[in-house]
Amino acid sequence: MTPKTLTALVEEKTLHGSFVRDEDERPKVAYNEFSTEIPVISLAGIDEVEGRRAEICKKIVEACEDWGVFQVVDHGVDAALISNMSRLAREFFALPPEEKLRFDMSGGKKGGFIVSSHLQGEAVNDWREIVTYFSYPLRHRDYSRWPDKPEGWIAVTEKYSEKLMGLACKLLEVLSEAMGLEKEALTKACVDMDQKVVINYYPKCPQPDLTLGLKRHTDPGTITLLLQDQVGGLQATRDGGNTWITVQPVEGAFVVNLGDHGHYLSNGRFKNADHQAVVNSNYSRLSIATFQNPAPEATVYPLKIREGEKSILEEPITFAEMYRRKMSKDIELARLKKLAKEKQLQDLENAKHHDQSKPIERIVA
Ligand code: OGA
Ligand code: NI
Repeated sequence: MTPKTLTALVEEKTLHGSFVRDEDERPKVAYNEFSTEIPVISLAGIDEVEGRRAEICKKIVEACEDWGVFQVVDHGVDAALISNMSRLAREFFALPPEEKLRFDMSGGKKGGFIVSSHLQGEAVNDWREIVTYFSYPLRHRDYSRWPDKPEGWIAVTEKYSEKLMGLACKLLEVLSEAMGLEKEALTKACVDMDQKVVINYYPKCPQPDLTLGLKRHTDPGTITLLLQDQVGGLQATRDGGNTWITVQPVEGAFVVNLGDHGHYLSNGRFKNADHQAVVNSNYSRLSIATFQNPAPEATVYPLKIREGEKSILEEPITFAEMYRRKMSKDIELARLKKLAKEKQLQDLENAKHHDQSKPIERIVA
């Protein structure tokens, strides 16, 4: 069972059982053991200074080919807006449980507050609380699902969503150019760009080594802009989860993650960032993820297939279908994992009984 909020569980000495992960999924690297492998790229002068654009473009492309992750600074989003957004988000999570639960979406509502995640078929919970809004397209905004407390947050969120939409489009222009296409190619491929904001709150955790704030995944959309505080906890892997690095928090920066849609459109040239979030017992942590997704009916197929290459997709599909396939694959993997675990337990049991039934001399021999 998923608890309704984490407020009470934070005070417990041991971790609530529903958050305990299998050993192979547990954190391998500390939340504050930072790596500098992910490049921090300044966007200063991108539209004004001769030659700057090509230079920035090159760095972004290298990062996309390498990890599917980079950080941007001098991005033009006002620092006061960023700090207001973070402060108000923190204030929301500090509200008493009954206030947060006025926006409970565990019954299937679109937008609001929930613990862990809303994916079906998850056996283990993530150690996080979230608030999520669907901010674009404008006609889909449902303000009844946007928290009305703390006061003034709605106006700040509106502004934040608008500025991040602008920044995302600017980055998609750079990626389009890098693929040798017209500037608008990627935004056009999104048809009518969707934006969803997820605010992640990771409370202090009694046994952080046994769990994750957010399990390993790739984001489904085109790109994600993540604002994180100075605590640390975002981790990336390039080898299927064998080794991990913790992304160094940079004040005022956005971490940009390429998603599955971006990966397919580039025919696999750009990586879809494979990532997770770990938690710790010293600090709570806040991150704000802005997901830029194509419209559900947008076509997913490489925009450019380089000479000598084959398409990584057999046929064009819609984004809705891509998402459906991703989810059913995840559910199938979870099912197989559960079966394998049950079988292992059964084998152990059988072996025990088997040993007991053998004469003693056979066992010591
Ligand atoms: C996400 C995500 C990472 C973090 O919300 O999809 O990857 O550090 N968040 O919160
Ligand atoms: Ni993510």
